[in-house]
Amino acid sequence: MHVLGIVGSPRVNGNTDILVDEILSGVRSSGGTIDKIYISDFDIKPCDACMACQSGKKCVIDDQWHQIAAKILKADGLVMGTPVYWNAVSAQMKIFMDRCFSFLDDNFESEIKDKSGAIVVTCGAPDTAMTAISKLIIEDFMKFNKIAIVGEVIGTNMRNKDDALKAQDLMAAAFQTGRKFI
Ligand SMILES: Cc1cc2nc3c(=O)[nH]c(=O)nc-3n(C[C@H](O)[C@H](O)[C@H](O)COP(=O)(O)O)c2cc1C
Repeated sequence: MHVLGIVGSPRVNGNTDILVDEILSGVRSSGGTIDKIYISDFDIKPCDACMACQSGKKCVIDDQWHQIAAKILKADGLVMGTPVYWNAVSAQMKIFMDRCFSFLDDNFESEIKDKSGAIVVTCGAPDTAMTAISKLIIEDFMKFNKIAIVGEVIGTNMRNKDDALKAQDLMAAAFQTGRKFI
């Protein structure tokens, strides 16, 4: 099992990153291999809806998306992590998901189907209600692409960069989520 962590926050070592890492630690503890990307490290443009991908071609935008796509295709599992920005996923995560449209054929069959997936959402507010929309957006993305969701890690009250480290129960749950990837 090879699992790719996809961090939708631009904050290296921030809350989303910490929880994605903890899931990946769980993957490693049960014998899996891991990789991780920060979407913001890549120069990727938003989808321009040219629809070339729908007629059997790959995404025709010439940018660093293709480096990300290769890593996704190689992985058996994906961990998608986003902070809540204005009640939704981060712009980085939204662009990532839109560019994944290029994995669909004209019957909406996804080239990335049959993988496993886990979701991380973090927010500053104290209530999980603030994470509901972001969680739903990524759940819908995974369901549409026929990615089986093994677990979700939802962090609230995370205003400071490393608040996730203090949430010991959540860190333990993240680790256990990683172990479910087998
Ligand atoms: C641009 C921006 C918008 C935000 N919007 C919200 C929001 O709508 N609701 C909320 O609870 N927290 C919001 N936050 C706080 C972050 O979701 C929270 O601190 C999160 O844990 C940051 O994750 P990170 O440490 O991985 O970057 C926002 C933060 C930023 C920078």
